[in-house]
Amino acid sequence: MTLAINVSDFRERARRRLPRLVFDYLEGGADDETCLLRNRAALEALQLRPALLRDVSAIDTSVELFGQRWALPLAVAPTGLNALLWPDGDVELARAAASAGIPFVLSTASNARLERLPQEARGINWFQLYVLGDRPLAERMIGRARDAGYAALVFTVDVPVSGYRERDLRNGFRLPFRYSLRMALDAARHPRWSLALLRFGMPRFVNLSDSDASPPSAQTQAALLSRTTDRTLTWDSLRWLRHHWPGPLLLKGVLTAADARRAVDLGADGVIVSNHGGRQLDCAQATIDALPEVVAAVGGSVPVLVDSGFRRGSDVAKAMALGARAVLLGRAPLYGLAADGARGVREVLRLLGEELVRTMTLLGARSIQDLTPDCVIRPAQSA
Ligand code: FNR
Repeated sequence: MTLAINVSDFRERARRRLPRLVFDYLEGGADDETCLLRNRAALEALQLRPALLRDVSAIDTSVELFGQRWALPLAVAPTGLNALLWPDGDVELARAAASAGIPFVLSTASNARLERLPQEARGINWFQLYVLGDRPLAERMIGRARDAGYAALVFTVDVPVSGYRERDLRNGFRLPFRYSLRMALDAARHPRWSLALLRFGMPRFVNLSDSDASPPSAQTQAALLSRTTDRTLTWDSLRWLRHHWPGPLLLKGVLTAADARRAVDLGADGVIVSNHGGRQLDCAQATIDALPEVVAAVGGSVPVLVDSGFRRGSDVAKAMALGARAVLLGRAPLYGLAADGARGVREVLRLLGEELVRTMTLLGARSIQDLTPDCVIRPAQSA
């Protein structure tokens, strides 16, 4: 096996182990995938400005959020269908996050029952909520997350309709799989993945039912499959959630100062600047470009987190310098998971942590607080 020394190497390993239609599901964005590329391009366009000759013999990457200390300013983002990438993928990710000392966010579209996580991965666990058509179901899920001891609730609000994922349409990606000849050949060419799926079965959205005994309604299952949340949601829905969830509540999908301010006014404890990794509104702004306006709008009243396109420790340093309190990682840990289960995720997180330490050392930043806006410069674009 070739050496894997960065996230991109794990991406390549994931690509080799997964059938094409599964890798495309993981990798793809909406429409022309311009947002997917823009997230990366905007991060790459930023340059870093070092401060020299500071004692950098000890670098502290830890941060504190909602009363808990994290070893790194990173969290594993909520992603659905993780068991399609590796058996029991949610638990594998959560265990790796716990051993790295960072939070794991379990998605509504996960394949492990939410009650299992705090038992089986004793780290910082957050729960991500999609409100589908059925509000009582959402209330019951929130109640279950509270009883199970989740430390925060992430309310994702950027999916009133699924992004147009053209790779999935072309590949005929749907669950359960309908095996075409092409798909059967694709699976046959990836025997390790296929054997694991045969052994552990097709992943299910187990959190849509209150117990293992009662299957989810066909309507909610279909809504989650088509990634369509309740389109009647408004800012009043945030009030409703605030009423049901007393703990830290974060709004995910914010891209403008106006929405960030509104979220804070209605009692959100944090906002996550996200364009869903380029999977929803293809013409959305790159999150690293939207971050400064959101940080300025909330003015330190609540933490601002960010995701979409983060693949290097230096990317993380840039976000922290522009005022983020932490970065959520979507695909990066999933590449590790698809390549080698929890071991791959641990390795991806270790590499990113080391890259962050190295970047901070070169920048003369001894702690996360030393990463300030003057560490970053965006060169004027040549005409
Ligand atoms: C996601 N994302 C996501 N977000 C969410 O709130 N609930 C979910 O169930 C999912 N599912 C999901 C599946 C897959 C395969 C991906 C790649 C992403 C979005 C995710 O939380 C995060 O916003 C992005 O992944 C961040 O971008 P990067 O890090 O993947 O570039």
